[in-house]
Amino acid sequence: MNNFTYSYPMKVYFGEDATKNAIATELGNFGKTVMLAYGGGSIKKTGVYDEMVTLLENAGKEIVEFSGIMPNPTYAKVQEGVELARAKHVDFILAVGGGSVVDCCKVISAQAVLEEDIWDMEYKSGKFPTAGIPMGAVVTASGTGAEMNAGAVITCEDKMWKGPLFGTAATFAVLNPAYTMSVSKIQVLSGAFDTLSHAMETYLGTSDQDNVSDDVALSIMRNTVVNMRRVLADIEDVQARGNLMWDSAMAENGILKVGRLTDFQAHQIEHQLGAYTDCNHGQGLAVIQPVYYRHIVNDAREKFTRFAKVVFDVETAEQGLDALENFVKECGLPTKMSELQSKVEITEEVLHQVAETCNVIKSNPRELDREEIYQILRECM
Ligand code: NZQ
Ligand code: ZN
Repeated sequence: MNNFTYSYPMKVYFGEDATKNAIATELGNFGKTVMLAYGGGSIKKTGVYDEMVTLLENAGKEIVEFSGIMPNPTYAKVQEGVELARAKHVDFILAVGGGSVVDCCKVISAQAVLEEDIWDMEYKSGKFPTAGIPMGAVVTASGTGAEMNAGAVITCEDKMWKGPLFGTAATFAVLNPAYTMSVSKIQVLSGAFDTLSHAMETYLGTSDQDNVSDDVALSIMRNTVVNMRRVLADIEDVQARGNLMWDSAMAENGILKVGRLTDFQAHQIEHQLGAYTDCNHGQGLAVIQPVYYRHIVNDAREKFTRFAKVVFDVETAEQGLDALENFVKECGLPTKMSELQSKVEITEEVLHQVAETCNVIKSNPRELDREEIYQILRECM
């Protein structure tokens, strides 16, 4: 186990009445003006919006609405939110949605109190924000675990770059599985595949082989697969949704990363694929991950064998990868680039650009060169 310092200040409210309890307990600590931030309108259809407005008004808050945060949120949308937050002197941001809404708000929060451009600050000066407008996250679609940390994933359209920006972590998160019941089956499974990927990419980072974090990661992977199958069998299974919600949070609250390095090469490739195609994150991972793992199976054979045994009850590393590939099909997730919804045709030229621009990870079982990343992408066609 590597040396580590672990601190986890965020409060999580889970289950029925979680929002009511969180708002009653937490919001008194902050000023009057609350930005209610959300996506394309699902919360209006489900009644979650009305519930938030009532709870905030009953708490004596003035609401500033910020809507239209898109999947794969853009830097331009962040700046729009920043302008509004500054103009209205927002005291608190309540992000209500999936990973895209939460990520956008994390960066709005930090940028709103900064004079310099946050992208330049992080990417050019290597400095990271230390303050922000306080925020809370109410999760309506689980999978990313975005509510559990300060890292956001933002698409800078002018730079053709989708990647991390560090913002502000929420002071509290609300996880009510009932809110996720209206999420479409494909999005539930895409989100859950993202969780599986987070645990697997963490597990596959280079580290010693005797690490309690690895055992926890394997348990999260197994539980995620079990509960995805429960959802496949019964889309109304709220217990399964709850388990997936907590799996998602566990994969990104730092616990699996304690004492070890992480891989996340599949994520780096997928994020750049997202920059060029705007594809769904979990679905992009479902296409890339099995192919990537076949490339590195000999570089982490022992780990892949453990994965095979614990997660899919099969014996060998290769059987584990076959099981992963079959599981993607069983879920009805895309297995090829051509099955991804994309804003452009995914040509070899696009794949070249993705391979040329994605981050290359050094803490994975074997560092890839750009030609091999291109080959992986080609094999996904
Ligand atoms: O916008 P609305 O209308 O709310 O619709 C959303 C959206 O279309 C819908 N949805 C959300 N809650 C719903 C619902 N539909 C019906 N009922 C509900 N209760 O779901 C769609 C997808 O939402 P989105 O937030 O985009 O999905 P997800 O949670 O998968 O987030 C994806 C984003 O998170 C980033 C991804 O790259 C992507 O940009 N990630 C963030 C991470 C982080 N911060 O730690 C880690 C991940 O690896 C990931 O990169
Ligand atoms: Zn992810």
